[in-house]
Amino acid sequence: MAASDLVVVILAAGKGTRLKSSLAKVLHRAGGRPLVEHVVRACQPLGARKICVVVGHQAEQVTAAVAPLRAETVLQLPQRGTGHAMLVAKRALAGAKIALVLPGDAPLVRTETLRAMLAAHRAGQAAATILTAVLEDPSGYGRIVRRSASTVAAIVEESKLTEEQRPLNEINSAIYCFSLDKLWPALAQVKPDNKHHELYLTDAVALLSAQGDTVLAQVAADSREVLGCNTRADLAAVDRIFRERKRLELMNAGVTIQLPETVTIDPEVTAGEDTVIEPCVQLLGKTRLGARCTIRTGSVLHDALLADGVTVEQHCVVSESRLDADVIIGPFARLRGHSHVKGGARIGNFVELKKSVVGEGTKSMHLTYLGDAKIGAKANIGAGTITCNYDGFHKHPTTIGNRVFIGSDSALVAPVRIGDGAYVAAGSTITENVPPDALGIARGRQVNKPGWAAQKRRALAAADRPKKKPARLRKKTARPQKRIARPKKKPTRIRTKSKLRRVKKSRRR
Ligand code: UD1
Ligand code: MG
Repeated sequence: MAASDLVVVILAAGKGTRLKSSLAKVLHRAGGRPLVEHVVRACQPLGARKICVVVGHQAEQVTAAVAPLRAETVLQLPQRGTGHAMLVAKRALAGAKIALVLPGDAPLVRTETLRAMLAAHRAGQAAATILTAVLEDPSGYGRIVRRSASTVAAIVEESKLTEEQRPLNEINSAIYCFSLDKLWPALAQVKPDNKHHELYLTDAVALLSAQGDTVLAQVAADSREVLGCNTRADLAAVDRIFRERKRLELMNAGVTIQLPETVTIDPEVTAGEDTVIEPCVQLLGKTRLGARCTIRTGSVLHDALLADGVTVEQHCVVSESRLDADVIIGPFARLRGHSHVKGGARIGNFVELKKSVVGEGTKSMHLTYLGDAKIGAKANIGAGTITCNYDGFHKHPTTIGNRVFIGSDSALVAPVRIGDGAYVAAGSTITENVPPDALGIARGRQVNKPGWAAQKRRALAAADRPKKKPARLRKKTARPQKRIARPKKKPTRIRTKSKLRRVKKSRRR
């Protein structure tokens, strides 16, 4: 097959000053992808001989974003405007007759729209064809000054609009087809006579028209396709449109989405028929849902693979993990690090799985951490079980066999194996392997001390009882107190040494 006469040029060298960001504009994301990636993807099916991306600001990062899509890059340093960007790319475009030129910051354009525009360009044997749109609020865009019903006289940037031109609401999308034998001589005449001293590609259009060449305008059927992203508000508006498109795609494929405007779905996500997605769910990355799944409100799935009939209860976070048929997880479960939950298993609330495999029909319902663990089928993992997989230096595995019962609040210090059918007593700290069908018990033996608590209470109560204050600190009351006569103390007898001896003798007798 002969090489195509078409080349695609995507202008992506600018900084994006109006975004007020340290990140190059075309790397900002909308609809789950960097802006420039959307543009490259829209052009891929056109069969061009090459897709050439002009990079400049953060060239390395932009190149890294487009290289996997088999796009070539050309470096524009410094950036002296869209016309200059085309001149920099000239050598890379050798051999092509028609260039489809797109800005890297208008990501909503669809392949069909570009195809229709190329067909109009070829049919009209035009020097240039411009994709335009009629907008209610055209502010910020260059405006189209028509020559006739189908042709264009000039594109006037907003800063240069005259009073009569100000009401014009047909805008330049900055998506063009150029016949290159016409474009290069016109560009050579463009002067940097604007406040930024840049070479504008738009000025080449006016020159072509002035010299009598055909410049066509192709009005986009859906004006939203041409929206550019110059500000954060533009980014948000474009993102909203992408998300709406994706939700519609899934709904048309038989998926129920409740309160769709609250649901975020990335472009590569797929879902089977009769799957239900509740409000405020995010399905991100390469997530794939089978048929008849239910994803309840507040759950976030990133690169998750769900077979048919899976239920993800409220507020779960699943990343890079696989759930087989009829699994139920949550509410409030977290699965990560390539975990795999096999058919019919149940993962309950506040259970975290990291790089773990849970066998068929196994249950782990409450407050548990299973990290680097391999668990067999039909096991029961009690509430509060912890696999102690990290010793401060390395991670170690825990292996739990089929039909194992782990009692609540057990710590399994890895590396450790619990054989098939074994029991672990509740509250154990297991540091050694438990053989199949054995009971592993590792905790202090219980001692009951009868009456201990009652005795303790009495002692505490006595200690708390207020002590009598000495007389001199006692409050004197106004009422005269009755004097109670105390019995007189007997005077202490003074005994001499000889007397004492006599007393002792008499006692001995
Ligand atoms: C441009 C058009 C305007 C149109 C609008 C549509 C010009 C002069 N104006 O304005 O008529 O209505 O797009 O969105 O073209 N770029 C380079 N090298 C440069 C300068 C820019 O590669 O030296 C790239 C940018 O990275 C960007 C694209 O060209 O992806 C367009 O530049 P931008 O600054 O966004 O132009 P606008 O002001 O939006
Ligand atoms: Mg722009």
